[in-house]
Amino acid sequence: MDRNPDAMELWRQERPLVIPCPRGAAPGLAAEVAALGFPVLAETDAAVETAGTFDDTLKLNLHLRTAQRVLFLLQAFRATTPGELYGGLLDLPWEAILPDDGYVSVTSAVDHPTIRDSQFANVKCKDAIVDRIQKVRGRRPDSGPERTRSVVHLYWRGKDARIYLDTSGEPLSRRGYRLIPLDAPLQETLAAALVQATAWNGTDPFVNPMCGSGTLAIEAALIARRIAPGLGRSNFGFMHVRGYRAAAWQARQEAARQAVLAKPAGRIVATDIRPEAVEAARRNARAAGVDRSITFTVCPFEHTPIPPGRGTLILNPPYGERMGELAALGDTYRAIGDFLKHKAPGCQGFVFTGNPGLAKRVGLRTRQRLVFYNGGIECRLLHYDLYTGSRKVREGSAVPDADGEESRTQRPLERACPNPAPPGGRGPAPKTRWIETHAKKRNPRR
Ligand SMILES: C[S@@+](CC[C@H](N)C(=O)[O-])C[C@H]1O[C@@H](n2cnc3c(N)ncnc32)[C@H](O)[C@@H]1O
Repeated sequence: MDRNPDAMELWRQERPLVIPCPRGAAPGLAAEVAALGFPVLAETDAAVETAGTFDDTLKLNLHLRTAQRVLFLLQAFRATTPGELYGGLLDLPWEAILPDDGYVSVTSAVDHPTIRDSQFANVKCKDAIVDRIQKVRGRRPDSGPERTRSVVHLYWRGKDARIYLDTSGEPLSRRGYRLIPLDAPLQETLAAALVQATAWNGTDPFVNPMCGSGTLAIEAALIARRIAPGLGRSNFGFMHVRGYRAAAWQARQEAARQAVLAKPAGRIVATDIRPEAVEAARRNARAAGVDRSITFTVCPFEHTPIPPGRGTLILNPPYGERMGELAALGDTYRAIGDFLKHKAPGCQGFVFTGNPGLAKRVGLRTRQRLVFYNGGIECRLLHYDLYTGSRKVREGSAVPDADGEESRTQRPLERACPNPAPPGGRGPAPKTRWIETHAKKRNPRR
């Protein structure tokens, strides 16, 4: 343990914490943050701001399921030029923050007229850190792109520069259980956000046909068994700063382990037509410690066994980016509608897709449509209330309530923050697309 007095003082202070998440997941993240006892001070589409001490970041990193990372504000300052940015960063006592034998990596979210290449801002920031440490300690720390040790995040927009310690290091979506990703896996944090958005109660059945590498079922099992997502990881950014106390982390981990349930209250079923997908899902689930909590079967989605009860069914079918696949996928999406309508009465059905044309082929009346982004693709989590005799929509017509319906938890897209930049300042909108094959409108929600 390093008892550097300057670092200890800094870590004791309550400071702004910015927590980015997959775009669209912020309402759920805000609920998680509040449930852990933290105030929600601001919320954009892809980040939540709260406040806490360094020790609080350990708790947040351990328990948050939908967070990408937890950023601890070191300093906010005014910078209009790269020179001012360098000068502001040079003033920070980096020697009190980073360990003697340190390795530092810099990430950034920059929207500034003088900066065309964000790598330039990263280098400027890294130079200030190592120059300061060189001056005070007489030697330079190593630096590079690996996010496995100390990670510093720069946010710079206009005159507003903020420098954060990234207490997560590698993104929290890297839970450590995905040994076999297969093709088109969901990010773990997005999968957790989707499970959360279904409002599954943990005791009724959770059924995931087309499970692929199993991310949705695994996240459901982690939630149902109250397994803190950070328990699967052995490395975080907060471990690589001066003043970090391993004993405090171990105590938190131990308390989290005590809360784990031996098995889920509800049954969790995952199926896929490809044996190799089910094998990958099973192995990933084993790595996450939940393989015994999930019943895996190789079968077409229509043959997925649905346990009795008011279950939650969620499917993430292929979106079909190649034209040749689309005709066949149209039939698949239509068959998904038939499957939900006929095989799952009394359940809540969900389809997560990035293709609005295919989404319409499901042909059931949606109760709700929530917007999430899967990487750069604008997607919808379509919610169907599956009562006996639930209505099929006329073939080829638009899903009737697709356009005007506003979600329960999300704000309109127009008001949403376009990127995971810290609240209080917004960066440029990332390139996004909602793949269109049949839809007439560019964005069905506007
Ligand atoms: C987009 S991937 C699902 C990814 C998954 N959510 C994950 O995180 O890994 C779609 C999956 O649907 C499966 N699939 C495609 N057609 C199917 C069918 N007719 N019946 C069952 N599974 C099918 C594919 O094998 C693939 O694994």
